[in-house]
Amino acid sequence: MHIHVLGAAAGGGFPQWNCNCFNCDGLRKKTIKATKRTQSSICVSGDGINWVLFNTSPDILQQIQDFAPLQPGRAIRDSGIQAIVLIDAQIDHTTGLFMLREGQVKREIYCTDMVYEDLTSGNQILNILGHYCGINRHDVPIDGKTSFTIANVPNLKFTSVALKSAAPPYSPHRNDPKAGDTIGVLIEEISSGKKCWYSPGLGEIEPHLPELMNQADCIMVDGTFWTNTEMIDMGLMTKTARSIGHNPQSGEGGMIEKLNDFGQDKKVRKILIHINNTNPILREDSAERAVLNEHNIEVAYDGMDIIL
Ligand code: MLT
Ligand code: MN
Ligand code: ZN
Repeated sequence: MHIHVLGAAAGGGFPQWNCNCFNCDGLRKKTIKATKRTQSSICVSGDGINWVLFNTSPDILQQIQDFAPLQPGRAIRDSGIQAIVLIDAQIDHTTGLFMLREGQVKREIYCTDMVYEDLTSGNQILNILGHYCGINRHDVPIDGKTSFTIANVPNLKFTSVALKSAAPPYSPHRNDPKAGDTIGVLIEEISSGKKCWYSPGLGEIEPHLPELMNQADCIMVDGTFWTNTEMIDMGLMTKTARSIGHNPQSGEGGMIEKLNDFGQDKKVRKILIHINNTNPILREDSAERAVLNEHNIEVAYDGMDIIL
């Protein structure tokens, strides 16, 4: 299985257009050891030709330009992207769909009922696409048991499950979480049996998740914030990381502690993705990055290839 990180940053990207935090300012001025990142998305293939896009970030056009396999060039209009799986309805994961409106072939969109509802009401993007390429919407099971395959994407199988995170700020039920607002997905390559767990929005590793996560050879999880109060401490927001659906890395119950439970009986890659520009782990020589290194936790970057 080939997993390609198209974008590793959280909403806003790194650097964020209006942000002068230590990281964003330092990246612009080249005074910190870090590289720029676009907004969170991966693509996955089981044959190297046909790809599933997970989320569609506002940076999708640049991301496609930077990854040639997504343009196989078999016809006058063509794409290696056969289908799109949306793990939530957040702006940074969906608004790139506007950029993929061209063509006569309908976009194949896989999402939950809750995400479909948000993307046809609070944010009408899927309705609007109906006036351009059109979409075929496919429901995604969220019981963590029923797996599904995607037409024209050979050799891959998917099992998704509802996660505790938060619906987007624009959602009518932002403060009233519903099953299916956010999902995690176990992606399996059928021929090799290799598996990757992907959950860029993960508020908590709830008891029903280890059963799926333990199967994975590679675990890619929410790397948004280092501390629960990161945005509050920097005067950027009044909400905690957990309250907006992102379990922080450090501290009790944090991602570092939780990830320790995985990979004890086999070698597992652990990778943080959807990293907010304020997060000190973006600085390659930071003390926080050193802590991750000690725990064999990697930090995703744009262009990262994971071959399982
Ligand atoms: C999130 O991950 O919490 C959202 O993408 C935040 C946002 O849209 O600004
Ligand atoms: Mn986000
Ligand atoms: Zn910043």
